[in-house]
Amino acid sequence: MQEDPRILELRKMRAKAQEGGGKDRIEKQHAKGKQTAKERITALLDPGTFNELEPFITSPVDELGLASEAFLGDGVVTGYGQIDGRTVYVYAQDFTIYGGTLSEMQSHKICRVMDLSMRNGVPCIGLLDSGGARIQEGVKALGAYAEIFRRNAQYSGVVPQVSVMLGPCAGGAAYSPALQDLIIMVEKQSFMFLTGPEVIKAVTGEIINSEALGGTDVHMSISGVAHLAAPSEQAALDLVRQFLSYLPSNNVENPTFRQPSDDPMRMDEHLNHIVPIDPSEPYIMHQVIESIVDKGTFLEIQPNWARNAVVGLARIGGHSVGIVAQEPAVMAGVIDIDASDKMTRFVRMCDCFNVPLVTFVDSPGFLPGVAQEHGGIIRHGAKLLYAYSEATVPKVTVITRKAYGGAYVVMSSKYLGTDVTYAWPSAEIAVLGAEGAANILFKKQIESAADPAAERKRLAADYRARFNNPYYAASTGDVDDIIEPRESRPKIIAALSALRDKFAPAPPRKHGNIPV
Ligand code: HXC
Repeated sequence: MQEDPRILELRKMRAKAQEGGGKDRIEKQHAKGKQTAKERITALLDPGTFNELEPFITSPVDELGLASEAFLGDGVVTGYGQIDGRTVYVYAQDFTIYGGTLSEMQSHKICRVMDLSMRNGVPCIGLLDSGGARIQEGVKALGAYAEIFRRNAQYSGVVPQVSVMLGPCAGGAAYSPALQDLIIMVEKQSFMFLTGPEVIKAVTGEIINSEALGGTDVHMSISGVAHLAAPSEQAALDLVRQFLSYLPSNNVENPTFRQPSDDPMRMDEHLNHIVPIDPSEPYIMHQVIESIVDKGTFLEIQPNWARNAVVGLARIGGHSVGIVAQEPAVMAGVIDIDASDKMTRFVRMCDCFNVPLVTFVDSPGFLPGVAQEHGGIIRHGAKLLYAYSEATVPKVTVITRKAYGGAYVVMSSKYLGTDVTYAWPSAEIAVLGAEGAANILFKKQIESAADPAAERKRLAADYRARFNNPYYAASTGDVDDIIEPRESRPKIIAALSALRDKFAPAPPRKHGNIPV
């Protein structure tokens, strides 16, 4: 039987919608080692699960008369599919159409999937590759970005939002991801900046290339804008799948429990020897974390920025958890401005998606100095206090060594609402380190001694014996128990199991006023 001509027309239109910006531009994209929008979506989702929406939306004829033709799809592919059997909404910008730039109609398509993801309580994932606002659309393109930003903000904390940067992401293409939960970059391929090298040259005369301006190294280790980086597009898309596996689909669900292959009762003897006797000698907190969580499940977030703090997602006994810690091997684990910001943001992300927090403390406190004070360490440190105080998820803390002064209080102390606080026998919980405390408390006595240095040493040793151990804190109820380091894994798992149905309603309010 002859095909109905209307069916043939549909097939023709569908084939045209697959063409993106045309064969030449697709070849150019492939020549750069980059995939097309559709190829990326296929690589991200479970096989055969993608359903496209609004493929026939067409780029409008612009007022400058630059467009030689009207492209179907208008530079973005949108729709829904599944990751590990769970529904997600996705949009992928198509660099072969006007450099993936954002127009009024492209924004309409993106907002549509954002709205659907919100309504259905499932994650929204953006695959970005865009020159920012489409210049020839003028203010329409700017308003179109604002529509996306508003949704990014309003849906924040309701459904997970993830951005993968797969090319040059300029202007608004950088700001929308900055409002989301996670930014993943691809080494040597993604760039993020508000104004590109050409604009900088025109305005300031400065010549700089995209990599030095906003490449992966910049945003992973200097600016702290990006959270994860991968060597290839596929590896970046795999990270999306891994990241989402720790989260529920929305803020009213709990993360899924996964039966662990690692024994919940496993005790690592090595932990009983990891903290050196000399308190000034470092050890590696990453090793502590790796040996306590289910083997191979630790996904560190922002590993190269503010390395004195460690944050990441993991599983312990099958429970999804957010790990927050200090790294004593980097700047002695001191808390500075960047570390405060890094930990704050992570604590809040875990709290909004019901991921329990496990905190390991080893910090001499906030970093002293003019640069930190003038940079607003009070404001930045206050964010962390705020975030831990506000978080209602199960909170378990383990003090491995130093918890001096502000570090004790701010790092999920009992009084910020932590549910279980453990200390290792190596814990030193005090207002100040012994030397500093002796200097202040016994200043006159030290100065008038025959041998001030020896007197200082003696008084510091006295102070250390009295306060720099976990027994004083345990005697006053400031920690719940002192445990052997090797017991940490089963103890944390037991605490998380007991706290699984924790109910801690917050008082009604419009929203708090976190010091930003
Ligand atoms: C319209 C654009 C465009 C733009 C690129 N193109 N950027 N079209 N508006 N903003 C088009 C090009 O004309 C070209 O079309 C195609 O996209 C590919 O661009 P190329 O320059 O050939 O590619 P490449 O050499 O890889 O460079 C990509 C780029 C560069 C780094 C993104 O194009 C660039 O610097 N663009 C401007 C970036 C920028 O400053 N945007 C800021 C927008 S302001 P053809 O037809 O040849 O394929 C903004 C404000 C938002 O976003 C508000 C936030 C608060």
